Amino acid sequence: MANAADLERWVAIDERLESMLDIDDDILSATLADSDAAGLPPIAVSPLQGRLLQSLARMIGARRILEVGTLGGYSTIWMARALPAGGRLVSLEIDAHHADVARRNIARAGLGDVVEVRVGPAAQGLAALEASGGEPFDMVFIDADKRSNPDYLTAAVRMTRPGGVIVVDNVVRRLDAGDASDPDAAGTVRVLELMGDHPGLTTTALQVVGRKGHDGLAIALVLPPA
Ligand code: SAH
Ligand code: DHB
Ligand code: MG
Repeated sequence: MANAADLERWVAIDERLESMLDIDDDILSATLADSDAAGLPPIAVSPLQGRLLQSLARMIGARRILEVGTLGGYSTIWMARALPAGGRLVSLEIDAHHADVARRNIARAGLGDVVEVRVGPAAQGLAALEASGGEPFDMVFIDADKRSNPDYLTAAVRMTRPGGVIVVDNVVRRLDAGDASDPDAAGTVRVLELMGDHPGLTTTALQVVGRKGHDGLAIALVLPPA
């Protein structure tokens, strides 16, 4: 956990970076403001992290993106903006209220025809997507209930093309909690072990400090079949 003085410094640096890099815009800040007003928790990715997700998508020429955990659609909008014409993003969200807020935010961003928010447990959403036998995804962002991350990762690997990218949010927050009886901490340890062991992935994890405190991201590249 960060102490108050550390957090204050990290927030101030995030603000300076966001300002120097001109990261924010009105649609993104309205997305956060309306999510807040609708009572959603303030746990969306930071602006700088949103830009990272967007750039990763662009770097790999992503046309199809899958998100697990929509909340108010903030990370969704960042990633969907990376898509070329005809691209598509599917986001899975268990909470119907979150999904409603997200759909409004996504529509305001002009991405209503690009993004589909599906309500239900992500495990079911992933199974349905897989059963429908669509094209593989280029990028998957896993950011829902951390205890299920091993299952989400396993499904994501099957559903992502070689050369695609899988990003898992919040891998340090739960790791740092360190309590093996905490299912979310256990899910984090397990997902990182799975990523490290998987012959089809090459993975790194980065610690991040900033406006969300001390946390981290795991980023995996999906390799061609051996
Ligand atoms: N990706 C968002 C933040 C997601 S917060 C952003 O950065 O902007 C995590 C979200 O996952 C919450 O909206 C929560 O309702 C959702 N969630 C939790 N458990 C879930 C599950 N089992 N299936 C699908 N979504 C779930
Ligand atoms: C928190 C942050 C997240 O990014 C998330 O997905 C879930 C929870 C948090 O700050 O508690
Ligand atoms: Mg998160």
